[in-house]
This record gives sequence, structure tokens and C-alpha cells, in this order.
Amino acid sequence: MFVLVGYASEHGSTREIAERIADRLRGRGHTADVRPLPGAPEADGYEAVILGSAVHGGSWIPGAYDYVRANAESLGRMPVWLFSVGLARVLGGWFGKHVQVPKEIAELRGAVGFREHRLLAGALRPGHLPLFGRAVYRLMGGRYGDFRDWDEIDGWADAIAADLSATGASGGTPV
Ligand SMILES: Cc1cc2nc3c(=O)[nH]c(=O)nc-3n(C[C@H](O)[C@H](O)[C@H](O)COP(=O)(O)O)c2cc1C
Repeated sequence: MFVLVGYASEHGSTREIAERIADRLRGRGHTADVRPLPGAPEADGYEAVILGSAVHGGSWIPGAYDYVRANAESLGRMPVWLFSVGLARVLGGWFGKHVQVPKEIAELRGAVGFREHRLLAGALRPGHLPLFGRAVYRLMGGRYGDFRDWDEIDGWADAIAADLSATGASGGTPV
């Protein structure tokens, strides 16, 4: 199937996850088009869509959210997966308790009816935060590092690839 893997990324970790997902899909016979958001072509040119965003301040980056809203009608007719990349799953303390799934996801489920949303662990370096932000982050028990779980990402991408193959074999999602 012809699949868009769209991403919104500030510092590159979400882009690298999108590229990895696309590579796995290609390895399983699909054609994957990796595009930054905003900037991707309209969704109705694809047969399936996977969209992800870094989480900033509890929210998706606006480019990713705006793409889903603008293409909601087309996306509602095809298989869609969403992913969010943040630190909620790996941080303890205040962040682990308060920073969870981005607030837009429930709303987007109503608008698009995606198959799954996956919250993936991301990466953070001190240089990504302003000086004051670094001090607050440290006080709240935040940690730095690259927490991406490539085995989990590969497994998720492979499950999507299998799902797409099954969908394609059965003639696609009814329009
Ligand atoms: C300014 C800023 C705010 C962030 N806010 C959140 C947040 O609210 N929740 C979360 O889980 N992660 C948060 N993070 C962590 C990033 O989402 C995470 O590091 C992610 O991997 C960044 O993706 P990117 O490299 O594609 O930009 C924040 C990072 C920065 C720099």
C-alpha cells in the first residue's frame, strides 16, 4: 500500500522514528512517503497514513494537529495510526504523574477514528531547554537522555505493515 508517514519534530528524534517506521514498512513490501508536517501532500493521495508529533507542553506540535484537522474527511476513510513522542513514560516524579497522553488525542479520535495511538519514549538534551527551563526540569526530577525503544518501534511498525497487508488483500477499507 502507499503510505504517508508524516511527522512534526523540533529536535529530530520524532523524525528519526518516522524514518524508521517507513523503513520497516518498505521492508515488508509497502511504499512509504516520509514527510514533515506541515508540508505533506493532502491525505487523499495515500491509501493509509501514520502521523506522529513530538509532545511539547502536553500538546502535539501545531503542524501535525492542523494536518489531521485539515484532512479529517479523507483520513476518516482510510486506516490511520497516530504516535506521540515524549518523556511521559520514562520520567518519574512530577512529570511522570502529570505529563501523559497529549490532550488533542481524544479529540482527534472523535474527528478521525484512528486505529491506534501509541505513546513512544523520546529524547531530551539540556540544550533543548532554556536556562530557566533546565532549572525547573531538574527541580522536578527530570532526566536527560535518548530513551527511544527501537525494538518497540520496530515491533509496532511491523504490526502496522501486517495490518496493511491484510487490509490490502481484502480490498481495502470500505469508502
Ligand atoms: C520545550 C519542551 C517541552 C516538552 N514538553 C513535553 C511534555 O509536555 N510532555 C512530554 O512527554 N515530553 C515533553 N518534552 C520532551 C520531548 O517531547 C521529547 O524529548 C521528544 O523526543 C522531542 O521530539 P523531537 O526531538 O522530535 O523534537 C518536551 C521537550 C521540550 C524541549
